[in-house]
Amino acid sequence: MEIYLDNSATTAVYPEVAQTVYNTMLQNYANPSALHRMGKQAEDLLTQSRKIIASTVYGTPSEIYFTSGGTESDNIAIIGYAHANKRSGNRIITQTTEHAAVLEAFAKLEEEGFEVVRIGVDSEGFPLLDELEAAIDDNTILLSFMYVNNENGAIFPIDKISALCDHKKCMLHVDAVQAYGKIPINVTKSKIDLLSVSSHKIHGPNGIGALYVRKGVKINPIVFGGKQEQGLRSGTENIAAVAGFAKAAQMKLASLDSDSQKVSELKNTLIKTLCETLENVVVNSPENSIYSIANISFPGVKSEVLLHVLESNGIYVSTGSACNSKKNKFSYVLKEMKLKNDVIDSAIRFSLSAMNTKEEIDQVCKVLQKEVPLLRKIMR
Ligand SMILES: Cc1ncc(COP(=O)(O)O)c(C=O)c1O
Repeated sequence: MEIYLDNSATTAVYPEVAQTVYNTMLQNYANPSALHRMGKQAEDLLTQSRKIIASTVYGTPSEIYFTSGGTESDNIAIIGYAHANKRSGNRIITQTTEHAAVLEAFAKLEEEGFEVVRIGVDSEGFPLLDELEAAIDDNTILLSFMYVNNENGAIFPIDKISALCDHKKCMLHVDAVQAYGKIPINVTKSKIDLLSVSSHKIHGPNGIGALYVRKGVKINPIVFGGKQEQGLRSGTENIAAVAGFAKAAQMKLASLDSDSQKVSELKNTLIKTLCETLENVVVNSPENSIYSIANISFPGVKSEVLLHVLESNGIYVSTGSACNSKKNKFSYVLKEMKLKNDVIDSAIRFSLSAMNTKEEIDQVCKVLQKEVPLLRKIMR
């Protein structure tokens, strides 16, 4: 039995999505910029998909730009906005446990001369709002905060953060890659100016995502060419991936309530069983974290070793963010939360989807109940 619990890294596509991508590649392959009938057909599919994605976040179609995924959306939002608005101010603010796509974009802007402020987090991974409030000044033009942390699932108080921006000079960018399709997002209600989403976290194809840019927000392109996507993201559109993304978004949003209930139950079972049957289990996800992520430490067992032992039992998890795990052994997110070293060194991220079952979770618990005490003995 193969048990995939690495859904925050990427998800399996819905079969219906794979079918949509396949059909589109075979039947709707023309360039949407072409003037002929087939080009128009492709353009229509693009328009229809844009409408679908816009409706999922309560934006309008002209506010949605297709990109290659969360990383590119984050980069365009942060770098594109900072470049277009540098005359208004020089200070940009984020926090220390953002995804590398945000942190690296800020580092690039810092090199260019922007003043970057990185707000710290508390022991549960929530940004320190007092610190944030004190950091915002007349020179501040951008706040960038994630909706859900990809390592421990903390859901950030986006509405409160949004209330600290004037949305005239100081805008809010939200990296919603781990929230999209899992909790309802309303850019209008939450007053979000820029929002990044990605398809492959919601059972859509890889390499496609979107950036929402509120009407009137000035933003410079970072890629230049044929001026597709209203000039913000040049390059021939990947129509098949766009259609697959729209299909996945529709399916994910339609099952949001049932998925959240099912996955919450699975996560609760996993945490409860492990805490009740194993000694010294530390849960690094806060109480009301996103239902798809359970970050759990087994002090005394190195996370990398446990990951491979689980793998040999057909169970796939991660030690942190996939983008980071090959370069840095241990999670910078948990370090920023100032957890103890043995908790950081033994953390495993279990990330679930509605494709997982109760039987799978029972099997994972059974394997951990056997392997963790054995590994603790060996590693002592
Ligand atoms: C919070 C967050 N932001 C951005 C990204 C990058 O998205 P993508 O893989 O679509 O480039 C990820 C991917 O893991 C993520 O978890």
